[in-house]
Formats: sequence, structure tokens, C-alpha cells
Amino acid sequence: MPVTVVVGTQWGDEGKAKIIDLLASSHSHVVRYQGGHNAGHTVVVGAKRYALQLVPSGVLYETVVPVIGNGVVVDLPTLFAEIDALESRGVSCKRLRVSTLAHLIFPWHQRQDAISEALRGDSKLGTTLKGIGPAYADKVKRIGVRAGEVRDRERFHTLVKERAVQENTVFASLGEPLMDVDDVVARYDEYAQRLLPYLADTVNMLHDALDQNAAVLLEGAQATFLDIDHGTYPFVTSSNPTAGGACAGSGVGPRDITRVVGIAKAYTTRVGAGPFPSEVHGALGDRIVEIGHEFGTVTGRRRRPGWLDLVMLRHAARVNSLTDIALTKLDVLDDFETIRACVGYRLDGQTMQGYPDDAETLARVECVYEDLPGWKQTLRKCRSESELPREVLALLALVERHTQVPVSVVGVGPERDDVVLRTVRMVHT
Ligand code: GDP
Ligand code: IMO
Ligand code: MG
Repeated sequence: MPVTVVVGTQWGDEGKAKIIDLLASSHSHVVRYQGGHNAGHTVVVGAKRYALQLVPSGVLYETVVPVIGNGVVVDLPTLFAEIDALESRGVSCKRLRVSTLAHLIFPWHQRQDAISEALRGDSKLGTTLKGIGPAYADKVKRIGVRAGEVRDRERFHTLVKERAVQENTVFASLGEPLMDVDDVVARYDEYAQRLLPYLADTVNMLHDALDQNAAVLLEGAQATFLDIDHGTYPFVTSSNPTAGGACAGSGVGPRDITRVVGIAKAYTTRVGAGPFPSEVHGALGDRIVEIGHEFGTVTGRRRRPGWLDLVMLRHAARVNSLTDIALTKLDVLDDFETIRACVGYRLDGQTMQGYPDDAETLARVECVYEDLPGWKQTLRKCRSESELPREVLALLALVERHTQVPVSVVGVGPERDDVVLRTVRMVHT
């Protein structure tokens, strides 16, 4: 019963969805285990581009059951808009299942996200303003509303009404406009009715499938350094994208996991605020952003560019117990004379051991770079390791040396088959 976890190893947008789409054809279930519609997952199939926020990236295969697991926070308007958009393009979402245990996002969460960002002034986090943090806060405060509540229509009404009235008192105290409670209750009643056929006890469903030898893929959103525990706190998201979170957010136990694929861009990007040691400013940064089309799928914001950081990647390998790495977007660096990789940090003139455990220290470190010659040719057509230039192989070897994890997939373009698959010895399987 193979269970694969796909996890971002940087600050998101590493190309997770493309690799999930690639692996999905050999899996029966693709499960989102955390986050919500703050994610923007892009899959390109020929001339068609799909930008997914909540629906798992395996949805494009009719053989796959896409599952929104218990660890996800679900925004119903976004979910149904996404289902409608996919179905209008001929992608059926009938097989989609949503965990009864998943928490729902409500309009007050988005308002709270915006208010807390505004209150932070210059030190704002740069959240996606989707209400993710406030929804998880309610879950932890034990006042959240779970998807399964919609099965009792009267009770769901009462819960939504109570919560909306309560939140209005907070808005009133802040001098903020109030919500029209009846309108919220009426709209959510409609969404609730529409959610019913998708609801499932996904934990038992996945275990029953595993008992029948199904292959399950757990799809991470965000990434290791946006993790609420392991990321650059407070510049993080409010869930655990790391591999441990895949168990909690899906109900699949740790001993069932057989493979953990870390997705890393051949350079680094970050959206929103927070420390970024290998950040590249100026014309060179603009060039990376332009060639890599580094603009957010969800918010359209320009992503901050930087070089590959192998100190981060080594830490991600440890925290997630990665079995292998997919290194993506190498083609973006096709024309670069020199490719830099950060291989160590220095703090106050001293070499550092390990990854710093706080964002303040991380903001002060300086990168030690190793410079590699660029390959100066187009990688897009490469399909086998023997077609990869030796400069690329040298970069892969450097990644493997620093992380002690094999690179199993190399991304050479945005489309589904723009990859080179390498035969590697898996360390953990
Ligand atoms: P995710 O959030 O990790 O799934 O990544 P996003 O979809 O937000 O961003 C990755 C972007 O890079 C998308 O536009 C992908 O189509 C694109 N992409 C993924 N892999 C590659 C690759 O190997 N080369 C190029 N050029 N683009 C890629
Ligand atoms: P995918 O799955 C990149 C960032 C936001 C912000 C911080 C907190 O596409 O890789 P939040 O709205 O989650 O409270 O914002 O996290 N962020 C992402 N950055 N990719 C993502 O998802 C992200 N999801 C959240 O920009 O800095
Ligand atoms: Mg993304």
C-alpha cells in the first residue's frame, strides 16, 4: 500500500502541482491535507492551463479520487466556483470527496485577516487575505464549524448564526461595518446543500482503499519554510505543510508512508514578507522573475527571487525525511552564465552549523555561495539523463551532496511531460 507525500521544500510555488499531476496517474487517491485556497497549484496539459486552489491536483485523471482531507480549511464559494470552472472545461469533479472533519472558512475570517494585516502596519505578513489564519485560529480555539455539520440543516443554521452574531460584536467594537447575519445564513444554507453529496468520512475511506492495495498521494500546499512550526515564524502560514502534517491532515498513519518527495525550484522564490538570505535584488532578480513568470497564481503578486539555498534544502530533507527530490524549473536558468547555490551561512563572520531556529537570526545571515557554470542551452526537449548537459549534472550532484537525498525528477518546462526521470536508489523505501 504505497503512500507518497509531496511537500514543498522552500516558500511555496516550487511546482508541486506539476509533479503531483505527473505522479497522479499511478495513484488512486490524491489528498490535500492542509491549507486552503491560499494555494495556487498550476497544471499545464498541452494548451490547457489549470490553476487549482482547493481541488486536489489529481482531478484531471478520471481514475483518481480527489480528496479534501480533514486538515484543510474549506472556503465553500471558492470550492464551488472551482468545481464549476473545471466542469465547464470538461473535467468532472463528481468523484471529489470532502472530509466531514474539515473546518469551513466564513466571511468573517477574511475580514479578520484583512483587519489584522492592517493593524500590523509596516510589519504586515503579506498573507493571501483568504482568512486562512483566522479559520485555523477558530479550529484551535474549538469554536470552528466543520463541514460535517451541514448534515443537520437546523443545527448548521444555528451554528452559523451564533458565530456571525458573535463576530459582529467584535466588528462593532472595532468600529467596522457589520455583516448582514441573515444574508450570511441564507448563502451558507445554499452552499451547505450543495456540499452534501461530496461529504465523506475520508479517514476510513482512505484506510479501506489502502486495505485494498490502493496507492495514495498526499498533496502538500505551501511549503516547509511556511510551516507554522518549522517555518520563518511569524512569516508563515497557519498549518503544517511538512510531511508530519500529512498524517494529521489526512488520518493516514506515519508507518503507511513509503515515499516523501520534496519539490525544490532550481532557484528560490518567496511571496509576502519575511527573511530570505539568498534573495537577489535588481536587474538579475527581475530577469529571474521575468523568465520564470514568477507572479502569484492566487494574488498576482510578484514573487521575490533568489538563488537556490542548499542550507534550507538540507533542513527540509531532515524535517520531512525526504526520500527524493524533484528539482524544477531548471529551464528558467538556460541562459545564465553562472548559477549560484548557497552552500552555507555566516553570522557575524562565523560559519554557522545547521539552520537557524529563529527568523531574526535568519534575517542576519550571509550566504556562502558556490558558483557553477551555466549550461547555456535549451533544456526543454531533454527527456533522459543522458541528454542533460554536464553542467546540469554537476548542479544535481551538488544538491545531492548537501542534502544526502537523490534527485529523482528534473523539471525542464511547464508541461506535463517536460521532465527527466532519473533512476535513483531510494534511501528509505
Ligand atoms: P505549486 O504551488 O508548487 O504547485 O507551484 P505553482 O503552480 O504556484 O507555480 C509553479 C509554476 O511553474 C507554474 O506556473 C508551473 O506551470 C510552472 N512550472 C512547474 N514546473 C516547471 C518547470 O520545470 N519549468 C518551467 N518553466 N515551469 C514550471
Ligand atoms: P502554494 O501551495 C506561496 C504565503 C503568503 C504569506 C504567508 C501567509 O501555491 O505553494 P496565508 O494567507 O497562508 O496566511 O499567508 O504564506 N503563502 C504562500 N506562498 N505559495 C503558497 O501556496 C502560499 N500560501 C500562502 O504569501 O507570505
Ligand atoms: Mg503555488
